[in-house]
Amino acid sequence: MSCNNKVENSEQSEEKKPELIMHKPSEMANMMNVLYAFNLQTKRQILAGETPAPMPLDLLKLHSAEMSNGHSRTAAWNSFVNVFIETQQAVADTLSDVALKERYNAAINNCLACHKTECVGPIPKIKKLLIN
Ligand code: HEC
Repeated sequence: MSCNNKVENSEQSEEKKPELIMHKPSEMANMMNVLYAFNLQTKRQILAGETPAPMPLDLLKLHSAEMSNGHSRTAAWNSFVNVFIETQQAVADTLSDVALKERYNAAINNCLACHKTECVGPIPKIKKLLIN
């Protein structure tokens, strides 16, 4: 997937392994896909009344993960990333007074806040993570 709906035309990965024909996703794209899958799982666990599984990623790596062609840490990115990390971590805070569903939706709304300026393509997919 890419951030817009145009076909990506990136000359970034010159290292070609014979068995790899597809364009290699960036480290950041991989992290984002793990975040998506993790939150989808969390949504199902919340709806089933289960305790969410722990976050499998070190979220601080968002500050250093390599991004694909055309993306960089803009001022907007920098203004959204820390609040996202805080709200995503708060989902696992068992001592919180705020309802789990509200904390979860706050994290997803921060995914969306950043995506509105930094990467619009996945927004419809991310919106489906919200719990109504
Ligand atoms: C601080 C900004 C920011 C936050 C917060 C953020 N994203 Fe992203 N996301 C990006 C950017 C920029 C890219 C493009 C990265 C690249 O292509 O290297 C991206 C890419 C993606 C992609 C596409 C990955 C691919 O295969 O190309 C998905 C899906 C995604 N994000 C989901 C999420 C979800 C779900 C969350 C919250 C749990 C989230 N994002 C939080 C900025 C953000």
